[in-house]
Amino acid sequence: MDRIEINRAKWFKGEFSPTPDKSISHRAIIFSSLSEGKSVIQNFLKAEDPISTVNAFRVLGVDIDDKADGVIVSGCGIHGLKEPHNVIDCGNSGTTIRMLSGVLSGNLFFSVLTGDKSLRGRPMARVVTPLRQMGAQIMARADDRYPPLAIRGRKLKPIRYDMPFASAQVKSAIILAGLYADGTTEIREPARSRDHTERMLPAFGAEITVDGLSVRVRGGKELRGTEVYVPGDFSSAAFFIVGALLIGDSDITIKGVGINPTRTGLLDALKEMGATIEIDNIRTLSGEPVADINCKGGAELTAIAITKEKIPALIDEFPILCVAATQAKGTTTIRGAEELRVKESDRIRSMATELRKMGAEIEEFEDGLSIRGRSELKGAFIESYGDHRIAMATAMAGLIADGTTTINGVSAVNISFPGFFEIIRRLAS
Ligand code: S3P
Repeated sequence: MDRIEINRAKWFKGEFSPTPDKSISHRAIIFSSLSEGKSVIQNFLKAEDPISTVNAFRVLGVDIDDKADGVIVSGCGIHGLKEPHNVIDCGNSGTTIRMLSGVLSGNLFFSVLTGDKSLRGRPMARVVTPLRQMGAQIMARADDRYPPLAIRGRKLKPIRYDMPFASAQVKSAIILAGLYADGTTEIREPARSRDHTERMLPAFGAEITVDGLSVRVRGGKELRGTEVYVPGDFSSAAFFIVGALLIGDSDITIKGVGINPTRTGLLDALKEMGATIEIDNIRTLSGEPVADINCKGGAELTAIAITKEKIPALIDEFPILCVAATQAKGTTTIRGAEELRVKESDRIRSMATELRKMGAEIEEFEDGLSIRGRSELKGAFIESYGDHRIAMATAMAGLIADGTTTINGVSAVNISFPGFFEIIRRLAS
């Protein structure tokens, strides 16, 4: 049975390194596959989502050796991919399907991208619209709304595109298509989403300039292989940061965590709520800032208001921020977060439903929710909706709840964080 039982913990103590960053692992595979020559990816995340990207590029003819310590990718250049003989299965991974749609739009063959039930319910018009403007022949199910996506690659033309909302997946899809366009493609975002593509792609030889909220990419440049080191995933560390703050006498150090400011909005939110979190040993690895993070328990948290412009930098931390809010004095509101409705599950609905079962007081809005703290949480039967971040956030809630919490659909953690429960067992008492 795909379930786990969780009981209250007294503390988290010790240190650990979180799993490697999921977003950066995807990008390392994609960019090295599109490069001439070999690339070596150190500390690649061997979890279901990035493995979907590896499998996709294998189907497109790229040789990827993941047996060795570092993953070795023998890239075939931006024009060297082969027409796949079958549909490409992107599994549960939105990053895979959206970034690949940009790549395949510029490759002169036919391909079909699909995925699991959750992925087949996720919006694709956001990539279809700009890629069509660039000249791609791209279609999707249900009036171009949902996967499968069918693509016949074309010679692309550059565009200037104003994104209607911040999304790193859409921005990256257009940047990748821009590699195939004659001239300079420009993308403007209303707020800055994660910038791993802009940081990493130049190391492979791409010409990218960032100016405020605009990104420009020059087409026609060949990429060449390089070495990439993937830092620890802040989004995985986030569960333990909040867990340690909420669980009594905790004292943990999380080592080698990526602290790219486009990702660490949760730290700002927690500090505003009154938490003390220490960041040490800051260094730069493969263009990304990395640090060790120390967190202690017993924080007296107070409620805050999270507004739209803050959402992109904590988009994946919404579920665990909701758990923190149940333990903050006063009413925390999170608004302008409608994107959360179209993630691996409807995360606003999932968190409101599951935390209410545990005794939290939550009001749901179309674009977010409010949570009235502090609540004494109690154990409940929790559904993960097959969503890795719902499973991990509710597991942390279970560790501060009275009685036993059972989480159904717990294997979803393997999407981004295999070993999540082993780390809990190691740190918790
Ligand atoms: C990601 C971007 C974000 C994030 C997702 C990973 C990426 O999605 O939620 O988990 O790797 O670019 P959006 O681009 O849809 O905001």
